[in-house]
Amino acid sequence: MKGLILSGGKGTRLRPLTYTSAKQLVPVANKPVLFYGIESLAAAGIRDIGMVVGDTQAEIRAAVGDGSRWNVRITYIEQDAPRGLAHAVLISEPFIGTDSFVMYLGDNLLNKGINGFVDEFIAQAPAAEILLTRVPDPQMFGVAELANGRVVRLVEKPKEPKSDLALVGVYLFSPAVFESVKRIKPSFRNELEITDAIQDLIDRGLEVRPHLVDGWWKDTGKLEDMLEANRLILDTIVRRVDGCVDAESRVEGKVVIEAGAVVERSVIRGPVVIGADARIIHAYVGPFTSIGSGTEIRDSEVEHSIVLEGSIISDIANRVEDSLIGRNVKIHRLPVKPSAYRFMLGDNSEVGIRW
Ligand code: TTP
Repeated sequence: MKGLILSGGKGTRLRPLTYTSAKQLVPVANKPVLFYGIESLAAAGIRDIGMVVGDTQAEIRAAVGDGSRWNVRITYIEQDAPRGLAHAVLISEPFIGTDSFVMYLGDNLLNKGINGFVDEFIAQAPAAEILLTRVPDPQMFGVAELANGRVVRLVEKPKEPKSDLALVGVYLFSPAVFESVKRIKPSFRNELEITDAIQDLIDRGLEVRPHLVDGWWKDTGKLEDMLEANRLILDTIVRRVDGCVDAESRVEGKVVIEAGAVVERSVIRGPVVIGADARIIHAYVGPFTSIGSGTEIRDSEVEHSIVLEGSIISDIANRVEDSLIGRNVKIHRLPVKPSAYRFMLGDNSEVGIRW
């Protein structure tokens, strides 16, 4: 069995971060989302992984390399434009050949991994097996309808859903899927849809099995979900303090402070991770916050947020909450008059101010 991780795409819902960076490399608890996916595949015994990449391929290649860090072999597959998940499958046929494979969306997180899912597929050998989870708002998802233990119909964002079982970003396919991805036509958004390819398998009379997610699943494609994923992962960390904490600081609960980080006259209330060489000076870092390496939080309060490497938050009167702050961002109070807000923000940035 091989693996196929999709790490191209447009990432429009995470702009402006995705103007300069791949969304699959945004860190959750200070580790890129994509790395959790590679770990899941490696844990399921998959050693040969195809990585579909697009515009951000240089950055993905630099971060992932040849996969030896996870004891897997990564083959990069270039997609000329984000033409849909089924298009990613189509162009991967030379890599996959006659094997079965797991397709994993590079911005998805599953806390229980995929071992049970892969084992069931190998034992039952259907044409495809799809991972499903119950959701309160099926209108927002691709939804599966089941009968007699099989998937009988897939509907993309149904207006009147007949089921609350949404497709999760992990799929198992036999090579029968290649014929289906060649038979389908682009959708109204001009993409080859994986739901259409799976429906085609069903229409050809082949078996598509459902598998319900054990544990939680998150698609980190937008801000709230990224923060929620950060919260869920931070909840699982084990306390470790390798950095320097002075006697005037308090570090409470599940907190990881990496080597080289400095905490002075501050309160850190876990779950929190603080990256290498970060400086937390006379500050409060509250629950469910990931502070990247080399950042500085000074005379400020941050909670339920992700702050990426090299950013500075200094002397801010109100607490920063529910925020995703990119790399090398500076948020600071200006000592000069007139007292006004001064911004230098990228396109599609969002700033919320309360006074
Ligand atoms: P999506 O999140 O569905 O699409 P997107 O990345 O274009 O994001 P947005 O909707 O915010 O514009 O993609 C899921 C995953 O699959 C993600 O890791 C990107 C990847 N992908 C590809 O590799 N190729 C593609 O053609 C598409 C559509 C997605």
